[in-house]
Amino acid sequence: MFGGKGGLGKTTFSAAMGYWLAQQGHKVLVFSVDPQASLSDIFQQDLFGKGPVQIMDNLFAQEIDADQRVKAYQDEIRQKIRAMYGMKELPEEVESYIQAASAEPAMEESAIFDAVVDIVVAGEYDYYIYDLVPLGHALYYLSMATVYDAWIEKITSLREQMREYDQVAAHLRQDSTMDEDAILNELLYIKDRIQASSRILTDSKHTAFFFVLVPEDMIIADTLKAAELFSRFKVPISGYVVNRVLPEELKTQDIPEFLRHRLDMQARHLGRINDTFGAQVLGRVPELERDVTGLTMISRVADYLCG
Ligand SMILES: Nc1ncnc2c1ncn2[C@@H]1O[C@H](COP(=O)(O)OP(=O)(O)O)[C@@H](O)[C@H]1O
Ligand SMILES: [Mg+2]
Repeated sequence: MFGGKGGLGKTTFSAAMGYWLAQQGHKVLVFSVDPQASLSDIFQQDLFGKGPVQIMDNLFAQEIDADQRVKAYQDEIRQKIRAMYGMKELPEEVESYIQAASAEPAMEESAIFDAVVDIVVAGEYDYYIYDLVPLGHALYYLSMATVYDAWIEKITSLREQMREYDQVAAHLRQDSTMDEDAILNELLYIKDRIQASSRILTDSKHTAFFFVLVPEDMIIADTLKAAELFSRFKVPISGYVVNRVLPEELKTQDIPEFLRHRLDMQARHLGRINDTFGAQVLGRVPELERDVTGLTMISRVADYLCG
């Protein structure tokens, strides 16, 4: 996973890392849930909402359409309610509740969460590269796993207690319908998935989380703050990658005052990055002469990033 503020190079590095691993013979999926559809830009193909699309040998890219997922999610909820309660039609107040809930940002988040869990749990690839949305979202996502977990824990234990009463009551009534089991099973299923996904996120053996930063004062400060938050959620940070480093060789060339000034400033910021993050800085990628789009540019970044 690549995290960091918007515009620093998360999508660029996700694509480059995917490209590198695919070239090494691993089957890779690079995916994102960012509605800004930037994987489509970098791979120069329309990927949005199309499922995994093959980019080259071993390399697949996918952009999840969150709206489409929300709709599918709502249908699933309707279907489950109908099945559990043996209804043909949903009562109007339930339907309007489902409609209202879809206006909630949390509904979109949980639909996305669900989509990501589906992708990772299916296990069809050797590597998954998650081009994360800007930091706040990633944290929201993790905190949601914790909150959900506590909530479901509570509900399941209540349901389990209730089931004991139900069994007694059913016995007295000589009635053995146990629809409540279906609800309990559903809750346990959700809980399993949430636990599986937060296990993936916080498992340093299988998951690597990289922060992308650039040599600028504000970004260094923001990255530090974010890193603290991440450690609070027990997400192991694998390291930092510095992007957009001005090429060294400029220093020995005859360059305008403006550029010399920027070089000096960057040298100071790079020094601060080294003091702050030390050996956790795993790589530096230079500022290239143009935007990174298309496989040729991606392969150049991959060489700097992984070569
Ligand atoms: N090292 C680099 N040299 C030149 N352009 C870059 C470099 N890294 C990123 N870019 C460009 O910067 C823009 C933002 O990068 P992107 O990876 O989309 O950021 P993010 O995903 O973090 O928002 C893109 O247009 C990308 O092509
Ligand atoms: Mg991006």
